Amino acid sequence: MRHKIRLLRDPLVCIEQLSHGSTAGVMRLPWGGWCVRDTELAQALLQDPDFHTGGSLFFGELLPARGAQAGLGRAVRSLLRTAVPHYRAALPGAVAALPPASRWPDAGTRLVHRCLADVLLHPGTPGGSRELMRQAAHGGVAVRSRYVWRRARAELVRARLLAAVTEEAHRRRRQPAGEPRDMLDAVLTACPEADVSDRVVAELHLMMFRAIMAPVSGSLAWSVLLACLHHTGAAPWPWAIDHVVREALRHRPVPWMLGRTLPHAMDIGGTVIPSGEVLSVCPYLLHHDARHWASPGAFRPERWASDSGHGPYIPFGTGPFSCAGAAVAQTLLTETLSALTGHARLAVTGGDTRAAMSEGNVPRPFVLHRTPDHPPALDTGRR
Ligand code: HEM
Repeated sequence: MRHKIRLLRDPLVCIEQLSHGSTAGVMRLPWGGWCVRDTELAQALLQDPDFHTGGSLFFGELLPARGAQAGLGRAVRSLLRTAVPHYRAALPGAVAALPPASRWPDAGTRLVHRCLADVLLHPGTPGGSRELMRQAAHGGVAVRSRYVWRRARAELVRARLLAAVTEEAHRRRRQPAGEPRDMLDAVLTACPEADVSDRVVAELHLMMFRAIMAPVSGSLAWSVLLACLHHTGAAPWPWAIDHVVREALRHRPVPWMLGRTLPHAMDIGGTVIPSGEVLSVCPYLLHHDARHWASPGAFRPERWASDSGHGPYIPFGTGPFSCAGAAVAQTLLTETLSALTGHARLAVTGGDTRAAMSEGNVPRPFVLHRTPDHPPALDTGRR
């Protein structure tokens, strides 16, 4: 119970304290499962095919065959890559729509969704599924809310969205498209009707929606918050935007644990973990190992200006189940942060570096003040 409270208060401090309190290479987690705390053991494990035998927890029971999982990841990644120019074109309007003071991380989630909406379900999609998708992005389906009442409401939206997308998947299977127009087409291309029902297609579409929205909007919020907390002057940020993103992904990696269910017992550095247990590697612990990183507790985007001096870096995992969308996610984040900082000054109030537990580690609520360098000219009505 004590640990559960600590976990809710700040999962990152909690895991750090548990790690400092242990001397073994692997520790039992008070809320269940095991975590490798020694960096070298963790790195060896991530390269060990034995560790990955049982598969990752990403797809759950939805899509059991590994070939189908990899095919779906590739299909969604290639759709997103093609959609980068569309995303970029949508950014100025979405950024301009932000109020001068916006409440994050929710405002960031809405911003990302606004730019991705047409990629998730194309504008010609009939029925109310696009509106339900918007409600899902805004209402705690894309990124799980911390509040129970909001989660209950999100369940209703989720159920209605699944029903609408199931119907749409059925309709599209009767009238197949040529090139994928959106993520639903990409999922349909990767999932033949003989193997995957319309309902499972809808669930996979929702799963990918959350797998994209939660870490992208969480990492965006961390990037904005950490950079603003560390640079408070009126001058533009002294760092390359790409370095800010990389450092935010190091300092506050959103994915919490990379876990595998062990199909058989494994000896990890002298501790035998029984079969059926979940054994995890924690990116945060690896990113904060003082033996591999200089001043790991400091947010220093400038460390990425040099090719050397970096320790183990796994915000997107590594090995056979690593993130299919890592490169495109990095692009989306850099583009979004560039649009936010372009010709504007950013400042935050009410934020600190403690994490909250949601879909991984996300920042606690803060307010972003965005002041354009040149306020938009007043329309005097004269033509
Ligand atoms: C900042 C954004 C993102 C982060 C931090 C992130 C991180 C991760 C992590 C840590 C994993 C699991 C690795 C493991 O269990 O070993 C993962 C898996 C995955 N991610 Fe991402 N991800 C991001 C965005 C995306 C995007 C935009 C896509 C869209 C293509 C995507 C698609 C996937 C897929 C398909 C998998 C499962 C890979 C497999 O099992 O084959 N992710 N991601």
